[in-house]
Amino acid sequence: MGILRTLLVGRENGLRAGIRRRLFKGPVDTSPGSSYSAPRDDDPPAPRPAEASLGLKPEPPRGVTPPDGYEVVLHREALKPGKITEIIIGGTAIAVANTGDGFHACTNTCPHAGGPLGEGELVGNVLTCPYHGWSFDLAEGTCLTNGDVELLTYDVKVVGDAVCVKL
Ligand code: FES
Repeated sequence: MGILRTLLVGRENGLRAGIRRRLFKGPVDTSPGSSYSAPRDDDPPAPRPAEASLGLKPEPPRGVTPPDGYEVVLHREALKPGKITEIIIGGTAIAVANTGDGFHACTNTCPHAGGPLGEGELVGNVLTCPYHGWSFDLAEGTCLTNGDVELLTYDVKVVGDAVCVKL
């Protein structure tokens, strides 16, 4: 019976038990003798458990009115300097990069042969496509490998914590 129980619900201190404890933890003991201390007003807001344990990025901020023609695509803290990510917005796949000097956005489709630029390598303003290594200057919208090719870029503005892209 013990083996069957272990197979079904896991070990007492196993992964599944930890998940159950997180999901169904009981009320906090706030009695005077307990070690509970109420959060102070100046404490930073605690990250939600799911975000903290899974390393999820902050959601795009709500309540921000983007400039005319722009869409809110990211929370500014969701993309650290030197990072790039793919985003689909309004049915369009774009790559958004934080070069350290600011945010830049371009098409996610490499003009050479359709590689996913959002999975490329970013060094400063230079983005290198993961497929065949063509490189692009995100700030200028130029291709450094083939001068006849241009990169489709999008204007970016940061409003509060919101990174906004004009499509
Ligand atoms: S698809 Fe990007 S370099 Fe070829």
